[in-house]
Amino acid sequence: MTVLTLSTSGAATLRADALVIGIAKGPKGPVVAAGAEAVDKAFDGKLASVLETLGASGAEGEVTKLPVLSGLKTPLVLAVGIGPVPEKDDAYAAESLRRAAGAAARALTGTKKAGFALPVESVEDAEAIAEGALLGAYSFTAYQDQADKAAKSDAKQPLAEIALLGTKARDKAFKAAAERATAVAEEINRARDLVNTPPNDLYPESFAAVAQAAAKEHGLKIQILDEKALTKGGFGGILGVGQGAAHGPRLVKISYTHAKAEKSLAYIGKGITYDSGGISLKPAGHNETMKCDMAGAAAVFAAVVAVARLGLKVNVTGWLALAENMPSGTATRPGDVLRMYSGKTVEVLNTDAEGRLVLADALTRASEDNPDAIVDVATLTGAMMVALGSRTFGIMGNDESFRTAIHEIAEEVGEQSWPMPMPAELRKGMNSETADIANIGERMGGGLVAGLFLQEFVGEDIAWAHLDIAGPAFHESAPFGYTPKGGTGSSIRTLVKLAERTADGDLG
Ligand code: BES
Ligand code: MN
Ligand code: ZN
Repeated sequence: MTVLTLSTSGAATLRADALVIGIAKGPKGPVVAAGAEAVDKAFDGKLASVLETLGASGAEGEVTKLPVLSGLKTPLVLAVGIGPVPEKDDAYAAESLRRAAGAAARALTGTKKAGFALPVESVEDAEAIAEGALLGAYSFTAYQDQADKAAKSDAKQPLAEIALLGTKARDKAFKAAAERATAVAEEINRARDLVNTPPNDLYPESFAAVAQAAAKEHGLKIQILDEKALTKGGFGGILGVGQGAAHGPRLVKISYTHAKAEKSLAYIGKGITYDSGGISLKPAGHNETMKCDMAGAAAVFAAVVAVARLGLKVNVTGWLALAENMPSGTATRPGDVLRMYSGKTVEVLNTDAEGRLVLADALTRASEDNPDAIVDVATLTGAMMVALGSRTFGIMGNDESFRTAIHEIAEEVGEQSWPMPMPAELRKGMNSETADIANIGERMGGGLVAGLFLQEFVGEDIAWAHLDIAGPAFHESAPFGYTPKGGTGSSIRTLVKLAERTADGDLG
């Protein structure tokens, strides 16, 4: 695991394998950002023109490597583009720094130690750089090079050591920021590992075992309902989705409590460890990445552990609704009616709309504990990707101010999101001839239909928000900033910040 330290040395005296500096895109070529003064000196004050000669522009994510001949204790300088020079007197946006640090860390794969001398004007800047660097230094190689690991491993190892320069290294606030960034980034990387782990190794039982080990490590309370307990409890939604698979379903409750907490939150994650579509089988081309369908549960799990590591003054309960959606002789058929944990009956007209079924049971069960608010996180609909693209999650809910608060928090932590409506007229599309409700409705507005379905299972008078992360949970194109290919850890920073805000009494 990559280690982060606050360094007390300056850029000129740090001993490391590489030094990261920032360059911005100015109207007349690259502009060297604050923090790189010693580097400019080592290049005779000509750093900007040297970079321009090499073709650098300062564009976001651009990486330029320079050998060092004298004046520094690092053999290599890596100049990373931060994007446009900020308006006069403005600082760089935290997210620009986070992305720049991430791109730099990724470009330094195979390097042992790097100093990061990006512009730091505040504690928040330092935290963003630390977070971006730790997230960018992620790679998932557990299943590669088994035969000749020793020979190839070094080149593929993530950057091992990050020394953050330009901070007040002995200042309490900077230390706390580094610790916070480390806890959050490590848990995000843990969630990425879970998402990337192939579904033959990660199934409900093995996911629950990972949660159990983490609960033990961090002193969390955990309860795992297996098939027997789920049957006894009447969790017809989770059982119905899981009954076709050789690996049985689980409902995991993992709780963090603080003795002085005044508020409680329930986080619920969709944990379909593989979504084949069931009897309504997905066609080839649509199932290759469906190991990612437990990303909501991974995010919730990671957020609860991060909150525990930070010792926040709030109670947070995570609910992981885990099942594998497979076709077989025992699978739920299109036309079957399930009796849900709430007592409602659902006619399953499409077994590929399975996420809402497992979430519904968890929503009802979580509501029984009467939390101050519930947030569910799910890779729920392809329709949300059509609406918002692959980097933005949709937010729905029964409480406009809560929905707005989450949108603003997401923006603040650098996660792209957008509030979505739940138009009441879409409800009738789910009317069923046979049961209380069907699990599908109109195709148009499919993401909103799913939200309306979930709402029916939320306890009365509880603020609830639904995050549809189908787009950003799993990144399929080229890596950018601190976002790798595969599992991203989408929504974790939002969930952790929401818990912080709740602990501080800033919400409801
Ligand atoms: N897990 C999928 C949604 C999904 C699609 C996530 C692509 C990530 C990438 C979900 O279970 C699903 O299959 N939804 C259906 C619902 C439909 C049958 C009403 C969909 O979106 O097509
Ligand atoms: Mn599905
Ligand atoms: Zn699914």
